[in-house]
Order: sequence, then C-alpha cells, then structure tokens
Amino acid sequence: MDECPNNTATDFQILAFSTSEMGQFLIFAAILLIYLITITGNLIVFIVICLVPQLHTPMYFFLRNLSISDVIYISSTLPKFLSIIATQDNRIFFTSCISQLYFFLSTGLCDVLILTSMSYDRYVAICIPLMYSMIMNRKLYVLMSTSSWVISSINSLMYAYLVSTLSFCSSHKLEHFYCDLQTLYTITTSDTRSREILMIFEDTLFAFVPFLLTITSYVFIISTILKIRSAKGRFKAFSSCTSHLTTVILFYGPIIFLYFKPKSMDTKKQDMILSLFYVAVVPMLNPFVYTLRNQDFLGPLRKMVKIKSII
Ligand SMILES: *[C@@H]1O[C@H](CO)[C@@H](O)[C@H](O)[C@H]1NC(C)=O
Repeated sequence: MDECPNNTATDFQILAFSTSEMGQFLIFAAILLIYLITITGNLIVFIVICLVPQLHTPMYFFLRNLSISDVIYISSTLPKFLSIIATQDNRIFFTSCISQLYFFLSTGLCDVLILTSMSYDRYVAICIPLMYSMIMNRKLYVLMSTSSWVISSINSLMYAYLVSTLSFCSSHKLEHFYCDLQTLYTITTSDTRSREILMIFEDTLFAFVPFLLTITSYVFIISTILKIRSAKGRFKAFSSCTSHLTTVILFYGPIIFLYFKPKSMDTKKQDMILSLFYVAVVPMLNPFVYTLRNQDFLGPLRKMVKIKSII
C-alpha cells in the first residue's frame, strides 16, 4: 500500500454494457431468466440424484457436486449484476468484490477438477471395465471430490488475499460486470508482475494439466471404442460419455477461444460477452446436457412426477 498513502478504496464501480434503457431492460430480463433456469435446473439434478438409488454411482455423485458448484458459481456474480442494473447503483464494496472473486474462482476451479475426475471415471468404465468397481471405489471417488473442493478453496483463498493487498489509487472503475481478476489487475497501481508469473504457473497447473488429462482419457476412450466389434456395443459405450464430453467441450471451448483468438479481436466488449457466456450460459446448460435424452435420468424423473400426480 506504500505506493498510495491515502488509499481510500472502499468500493469499485462496475461499468458494464452501458446501453439504452431498453437495452438495460433486455439484459436484465435475459440474465434473470438465465439465473432462474440455472438454479432450478441444477437443483432438480441434485434432488433427483439424491432420491434415486440407481443414480448412486461415482459419475452421478460427481454430477451432484458439479450442480452445487454451478449454483454457487453463478450466484457469486449474477445477483449482484442484476441488482446493479435494477438500481442503477454500480458501486460494489471492496469486501464484496473480494468475496465475489473468492467464490467465483473457487467454484470455477472446482468445476474443472470435478470434470477431470469424471473423465477418469469414464476412462476406467470404458477402457478397463472389469476393474471398474475395484478402482472407482467409494474411498477413491470421495477422495477425488473432497480434494476438488479443498484444493479449489485454498487456491482461491490465496487469490483473494493477494488481491486484498493490491492498491487502487488512480481508478476504481471496472469495465466488467463482476470483479474479474484480470480486470482488477489492469487498474491496480501495485506491481503485478510477480502475480502474473504466479498466474501463468496456476493456469498451467489448474487449467492445462486437467485439460491434458481429459484429452488423454478421451484418446484412450475413443481408441477403445473403435476396437469394439459390434456397432451396438460401440454406440452403447460412446453414449455413456457423450454428456460428459459435451460439458467438457462447452467448458473448455470458450477458454481456448479466449486464449488463442487473434489479437485484432481484442475488444473489451467482445471479451465481456464471451465471459458472460462463460459465467452464465455454461452452468445453465450443464443440467440439460446430462438430463436430455439420458434414460438413466429421465426414467426415474418421469416416475417421480407420475407418483406425485397420482397423490
Ligand atoms: C460430492 O461427491 C461425493 C462423492 O464423490 C459425495 O459423497 C458428496 O455427497 C457429493 N457432494 C454433494 C454436495 O453432492
């Protein structure tokens, strides 16, 4: 804080999508709808998995974790953004900014780690099916999901601490719709070079390595599937991982695009729209990806709804 002795950063201003009143209203309505669908969808997934004994498998335990993580993830940013649009008061306290950052980063990383655990689960199920129940035992999957939560919480606690030590003298204006780490870095007056090096290390460890593990699992999975003789068997094996594969593509697609997009496209608005997709749309789609056309899930759900209507 030496760089700025009378640093009075108690709040930031969130400056996102400054459009007309009509535009603001449309954004508000769209985001509210997305938010409600996401919460409802993920809670339905959570409840159905809890209630249906056939769904008490490692894959669905992971999915249950994913749905809770997604609910926290989306709730860390969208409600505040909605209230900013509704009240036109774009201030956010420094402390809420830090807690937003904490919950957003930790559940984001938790999603990555759970998706990676799921790809290991699919790898074992398809490539070494005879060993499945021995390898994916209760101890292992509980360990995998617990460590996903613990690692991601500790990691983002560190980020929250680092950001809380930054000073913001010249500008408190964030051109984003939540307290985004990169955006905070661009307006801080502290030296962020060492933190950026840390971030490269972190990205490698927590984004590139999980991505590589996922790809590797799928290389093995696909080569195993191609060796299956009967078309029916191939289809059955493949359909047991299409949901997971779709989520993986939805999840890593935008990140890869953000990293490798041509520099000429480097406009803040586009980044913001892309991250809106990332922050709001991906968690909304997750429950649909897993439930639509999935008989394991739809069968019990239909039965539950029927029983309710009889009563
Ligand atoms: C997360 O998964 C573990 C097992 O992998 C399970 O015991 C736990 O209940 C799950 N947590 C939630 C919130 O569903």
